[in-house]
Amino acid sequence: MIQRLSTTPFNDQKPGTSGLRKKVRVFQQPHYAENFIQSVFDSLEAFEGKTLVLGGDGRFLNREVIQIALKMAAANGFGRVLVGRGGILSTPAASHLIRSSDAFGGLILSASHNPGGADEDFGIKYNVSNGGPAPEKVTEAIHARTLTIDHYRILEAGEVDIDTLGTSLLGEMAVEVVDPVAGYADLMEGLFDFGAIRAMIADGFTLSFDSMGAVTGPYAIEIFEKRLGAPAGTVRNAIPLPDFGHHHPDPNLVHAKELYDRMMAEDAPDFGAASDGDGDRNLIIGRHSYVTPSDSLAVLAANAHLAPGYALGLKGIARSMPTSGAADRVAEKLGIPLYETPTGWKFFGNLLDAGMATICGEESAGTGSDHVREKDGIWAVLLWLNILAVRRQSVAQIMTEHWVSYGRNYYARHDYEGIAKDKADALMEALRGKLASLPGTSNSGGKVEKADDFTYTDPIDQSVSRNQGARILFEDGSRVVFRLSGTGTEGATLRIYIERYVGSSGELGMATAEALAPLVKAAQEVADISGFTGMEGPSVIT
Ligand code: G6P
Ligand code: ZN
Repeated sequence: MIQRLSTTPFNDQKPGTSGLRKKVRVFQQPHYAENFIQSVFDSLEAFEGKTLVLGGDGRFLNREVIQIALKMAAANGFGRVLVGRGGILSTPAASHLIRSSDAFGGLILSASHNPGGADEDFGIKYNVSNGGPAPEKVTEAIHARTLTIDHYRILEAGEVDIDTLGTSLLGEMAVEVVDPVAGYADLMEGLFDFGAIRAMIADGFTLSFDSMGAVTGPYAIEIFEKRLGAPAGTVRNAIPLPDFGHHHPDPNLVHAKELYDRMMAEDAPDFGAASDGDGDRNLIIGRHSYVTPSDSLAVLAANAHLAPGYALGLKGIARSMPTSGAADRVAEKLGIPLYETPTGWKFFGNLLDAGMATICGEESAGTGSDHVREKDGIWAVLLWLNILAVRRQSVAQIMTEHWVSYGRNYYARHDYEGIAKDKADALMEALRGKLASLPGTSNSGGKVEKADDFTYTDPIDQSVSRNQGARILFEDGSRVVFRLSGTGTEGATLRIYIERYVGSSGELGMATAEALAPLVKAAQEVADISGFTGMEGPSVIT
């Protein structure tokens, strides 16, 4: 029986950079998840009888919200829900499933790289029929609905079995439990030369992949160990756990320290990588050689033609504004366009759909292509492996050769976490107020050429996104960018992105901190970070 239950709005359900993310305890309030899911459905049109994809990264509350979403989808008139077995679907696998099944859209339950567990984070995001995150006009409609909602619909029914493959009926709706891994692994096998990678591994190439107790474990075991023949144990922390085994599944140098230390050890493997909670981010570390996400994007774009799926070349490259300009130089050399978008994968969707860009990437450890509409951690690892299998060089050699051809964009991100929101807003406001007066002035970073708050006009639908980050651009091509994170669940995080370009005939082997020191100083001079935050230095440097 379909129930129509009364509810009252919550005033904190505005989706952020990537869906609604809150503490588990917030989601556990009566009607909280239901209100948001109903607001999503109420913002969509004409989905009667259509297919919805449903899955998540396995974190605490995943199973419970899967049950709620199934019963609400049935009560709202969906014809079929495809749910990953055990409620599991990585974000890129969900994107692929939406596309390959011609679904109307999908609900992905994840707070991405945020920790999981009873005291940690949960999240829900909605992806549209192209497999990508809902565009802003959809998330704005969802938010508006959350503020007026007065009832939701849910089917009264028992627990649905989501652990057995096959189809059953829930009311009039079909529930199809699908293998979360197989279709995705086949897609990867079609894009990359698995034979060449297998041969490289058989020749003694060693790799280590850290799933950080999150969703990529089953995917990585199937692909790296089963299909590519890497020895058992290549994939670490491979079982998705509700609390990720206490890992903070953010693949950066701080949280993936275990991998980093292994890769810097005497007996390090040739190649190391990690992914995040929901499998869309990646960290790449060669033996004794860390690759920044921005450099990784540039190297992947420059060498993508070595993989069968990209043998015909790239149509264009897109990167988020705070991502370094390393990819710009590759685009220039390839004679293809480079698009600079605001932070957030959703901004790549139109470019990918229009066939204007093939590869996209972000400094926040996301890289992907037009094979799905999300960033894709395992995809990035496989493209690296394919390139290594063809070039048969070390990661360090590939990086050095890249810098010799293109120059090097020294790059780091400084995060100030847990700042009171009003202080972070005050800092940004003061900085914004200053921008117009900066061009022509000099500070420790050099002479300022331009300073603005990034605005993006989408070349396809002409939608305009303002206030996407304060940028200070120096005459020598260096930059400092300031922006507040849109993915946190508590307080504010200030991100400062620092970049300095050195041409191919310059000093290519400096330590990053040394190369960027004057710009770090300039950031402090211009924005008075310690004055506003009371913090002496960043909490995380990546
Ligand atoms: C998510 C999005 C990314 C985006 C990142 C930014 O991971 O999927 O596309 O780059 O958030 O996070 P931030 O915390 O900087 O807003
Ligand atoms: Zn993620």
